[in-house]
Amino acid sequence: MRTVAIIVAAGSGTRAGGSVPKQFAPLAGKPMLQHSFDALTSHPEVDAVVVVVGEGQETALHAALGDVPFAIGGATRRESVKNGLVLAGDADRVLIHDAARPFLSHAVIDRLLAALGDHVGAIPGLPVADTLVSASGASVSREGLVRVQTPQAFRGADIAEAHAAWPADQEATDDAQMVRALGKTVAVVEGSAMLEKITHPSDFAAAEARFGASMR
Ligand code: CTP
Ligand code: MG
Repeated sequence: MRTVAIIVAAGSGTRAGGSVPKQFAPLAGKPMLQHSFDALTSHPEVDAVVVVVGEGQETALHAALGDVPFAIGGATRRESVKNGLVLAGDADRVLIHDAARPFLSHAVIDRLLAALGDHVGAIPGLPVADTLVSASGASVSREGLVRVQTPQAFRGADIAEAHAAWPADQEATDDAQMVRALGKTVAVVEGSAMLEKITHPSDFAAAEARFGASMR
């Protein structure tokens, strides 16, 4: 069984600002991208890791990770994933991960791959802690709601079919949405507080603190 991980790192990191796209910025001693690359590469069930970077970011990629298989991303995350899927070929299982979620544990990968035994897809989720209301002020129940993270894991044929079937002019919030659009069920496994996405400048300091805490 061949398992390929795709790291999408082709965004421009507009909200994070900085002199380089956030995935190449230093975090806890190495470029952000390297953290999840190392976690995926060292997992015993992951056979290959491919990275999707933006046009012109090849030098930064090689400086961070050396000679790795890569694809060039598109204007949207969905297009970047699609380009990465080409490199995944006919993998049995595909993990799709945001470079912007650097602190990925083997335990999360284990939970995702285990769930693929019974499901075509699996995603990490965390319970919603805050009270929710709609914009008009009406109460919304938290029950059954989770905040979705990456990596998202799929059987290879199902994620390829989902990306091929998705309308090119429509955006998707994540890859699982595209699989569900085909009427298939995606399992939710326990996510991790360490996997929070780095989006804004202040998230870097919070991530450094999280990383330090995990090392103790
Ligand atoms: N991504 C990508 N290709 C794109 C857009 C996003 O590969 N065209 C990747 C980003 O590099 C990131 C992940 O998707 O690892 C999640 O996206 P996000 O956090 O929104 O990153 P950016 O799009 O780079 O940031 P921003 O939206 O602030 O510009
Ligand atoms: Mg974005």
